[in-house]
Amino acid sequence: MERMQSTWENLVEMDLSESGIRPVALRELAGMGLDLDSILDMPLGYSQSNGTIALREELARGYPGASADHIEVTNGTSEANYLLSLALLRPGDEVAFEVPNYMQYGGVPESLGATVKPFRLRIDRDWEPDWEEFERAVTPKTRLVYLSHPNNPTGSVLTPEAMRRIVRRCEQTGSWLLADEVYLGAEIARERTPSFWGMSDRVIVTSGLSKAYGIPGVRIGWIVGPAAVVAECWSQHDYITIGPNKISDAVARIAVRPENREKLYARTRAILQHNLPIMREWAAGFSGFLTFREPQAGALCLMRYQSPTPSFQLSERIRVNQSVLIVPGVHLGLEGYIRVWLGGKPEFLREGLRRIAIELHAEIERLHG
Ligand SMILES: Cc1ncc(COP(=O)(O)O)c(C=O)c1O
Repeated sequence: MERMQSTWENLVEMDLSESGIRPVALRELAGMGLDLDSILDMPLGYSQSNGTIALREELARGYPGASADHIEVTNGTSEANYLLSLALLRPGDEVAFEVPNYMQYGGVPESLGATVKPFRLRIDRDWEPDWEEFERAVTPKTRLVYLSHPNNPTGSVLTPEAMRRIVRRCEQTGSWLLADEVYLGAEIARERTPSFWGMSDRVIVTSGLSKAYGIPGVRIGWIVGPAAVVAECWSQHDYITIGPNKISDAVARIAVRPENREKLYARTRAILQHNLPIMREWAAGFSGFLTFREPQAGALCLMRYQSPTPSFQLSERIRVNQSVLIVPGVHLGLEGYIRVWLGGKPEFLREGLRRIAIELHAEIERLHG
């Protein structure tokens, strides 16, 4: 998926394969207290490699019981996840992986010689895990369980009971639970998603500025975990990118202040609340060809379509004929689905959907004459 996106996203007229929120500008952050002048005067040396103490302390305040020693600041959530793989996984280990999902954790453990065992979220059960598959995937051999929560791409949020059941199983089997919470705070019309943090000492959380905050370009993410695990991730960090960018660390210190975080989450919510009805109305216009279970959080709409045409082929047609990029379900572990971005400007969304509809109607015509 990443390769498809990086190949085409700047060549198509409309990129609806995105997964974040229309990004915040530096000037907006200046309005929240970022001192642009001090950035102009900043000597561009190395920054503290695990994140400045000020940033880690600010982040720790959002995770009860955590201190700066429980936090490693990384280059995006993806690096946070990657460092945890390097720190925790060895050849022969098993990783349980929720599907559909952000697919990084399908690939990285395998490249390190671990075996990945998927368990499905079930659309017919409101995207709850298939518990039988979950229990088959998470056994005493499991080193780590990876979830995105809220989930990419379904936008689903687990019930408190489902969260407890997952944590219990990790405790029973001695597995780490890696909860990627980069979409936490991007709830559309519901209360804030509870964090897994604090539910057990087997829990490790990753997150970052890229999704709910709307600031992917500064590439700031973080790990929150037991101090020993975090220390090992810091060592791995030394060998990869050394540390985060100094300007980004300064930007992040402003963005994660509680009052600014809430403003940024509210901005995200307003964008998503405005766009979701546009998507809803559009999907309803296909009289059953599209099944759309609305996201509860995040900027992604996953839709099932009623045709045997592979999702890659359908998405390619949309790209070639309409210059619109979407994500085929097959790239997310789910054939028969397409993923469309919800986080852009309304007029951009409307035009993108108009173009996608031309190809979907052509597909319906092909199937039913
Ligand atoms: C669940 C999840 N985690 C991590 C990432 C990557 O985040 P970052 O840009 O912070 O590296 C994504 C991007 O789509 C994602 O969906």
